[in-house]
Amino acid sequence: MMKDLSELEPLRLVEEGRARVYVPRLEAYKDSYGHMDPARAPVFYNPRMISNRDLAVCGAETYAKLYKRRDMRLAEPFCSTGVRGIRYALEVSQVEHVLMGDISEKAVKLANINVLLNRVQEKVKVIRSEAKRLLISHIEIEGRFDLIDVDPFGSPASFILNAIEALREGGLLAVTATDLPPLFGVHPPACRRKYSSVPLRVSYSPEIGTRILIGYIAREAAKMEKGIEVLLAYHMDHYIRAYVIVERGARKADQALGNIGYVLHCQKCGWRDMVKGFLPRVRTSYCPLCHGELMLAGPLWIGSLARDDFSKEVLHELREREYLLERKRLIRMMEKIRAEIHIGKPFYYTTSEIAKLVRRNEVKVVKLIEVLKDNGYEATVTHFDPKGVKTNADLKAVMRAYIELTA
Ligand SMILES: C[S@@+](CC[C@H](N)C(=O)[O-])C[C@H]1O[C@@H](n2cnc3c(N)ncnc32)[C@H](O)[C@@H]1O
Ligand SMILES: [Zn+2]
Repeated sequence: MMKDLSELEPLRLVEEGRARVYVPRLEAYKDSYGHMDPARAPVFYNPRMISNRDLAVCGAETYAKLYKRRDMRLAEPFCSTGVRGIRYALEVSQVEHVLMGDISEKAVKLANINVLLNRVQEKVKVIRSEAKRLLISHIEIEGRFDLIDVDPFGSPASFILNAIEALREGGLLAVTATDLPPLFGVHPPACRRKYSSVPLRVSYSPEIGTRILIGYIAREAAKMEKGIEVLLAYHMDHYIRAYVIVERGARKADQALGNIGYVLHCQKCGWRDMVKGFLPRVRTSYCPLCHGELMLAGPLWIGSLARDDFSKEVLHELREREYLLERKRLIRMMEKIRAEIHIGKPFYYTTSEIAKLVRRNEVKVVKLIEVLKDNGYEATVTHFDPKGVKTNADLKAVMRAYIELTA
């Protein structure tokens, strides 16, 4: 085995979840500022994505439980070191087979070594292939997959169609997007190109970006007369992650498209609203609060971002699995997400934007939440932003609460 490793050196052995894997020794790959840069290593391994993988195993276990899946067949077409696929095989009880692939020869080599190291060669197969090809070619050979994990560099947009095609009826699609600048409105042209959507650079861009990604998946699925149901979508660190069920039928597709809409945002005062519809139906282009000009973003997903049963069960899995390295942080996030579900209104206000609007000092978000609740509104922190409050109160009521708080 050591002979095979030599061309991939320097390596180190790490423990992640139940897996032990050889990964590039990141200290050897620094950028011009001296920061460790996983993208410079011959095979990509990012310790900042442990949270993503920890939740992935909980998500897969939950899916198997809720949908009564046995002997699941998974695909991980961007496997890199293989850590994710190996973890699925080791940590999810109903996994029969994981097909891993990567376009890089070195990645396939290292993934194969890691498969042997973890003794999962009976369950996990690694092939060198372009991801879209892997997904499509295997439909005929081995049938469709129960779960496909799309975890590429940057945007997943160009891989969604093939992943949906390669999923079985009611299968689970898990998608990571790390191209946050386009989705968050820092590079709008890239968002138009990749997601056929217009983003916005505002205080609640993380939620808009998450909804643009889901809206895109729904529209890609609809092309093939398929509909999606969102089990969970969230933003953490430098990525967005979505878990959606894909079901066949024009009716399912139409139902999902019924959750497509747009955001209206006043650049002057920050007033915001959401409109439903495949095309934006807007009565006025002026803000009802200050008569400033309204901006439009979308199309995007205006439906729910988390399902109660799925998020509850994922939280349970996280609590049970004490070995998970990112367990505490993920539990905190899932608790916030579960509280957000019940607000039922999209988007949030940040204490910094409200402080600026009412020309007061910034206060802690929990204080604002207290006052909003005292005033009869529902309010909770959002996982999207530590300074964000999700509430059914409108901007005027939030400003009033803030003034009351800082009087
Ligand atoms: C972000 S890394 C995957 C990380 C891995 N899923 C994990 O959790 O550690 C992306 C991987 O995709 C591979 N890749 C890039 N473009 C590809 C393509 N079109 N088809 C297949 N693999 C590709 C790269 O070689 C790289 O190993
Ligand atoms: Zn306004």
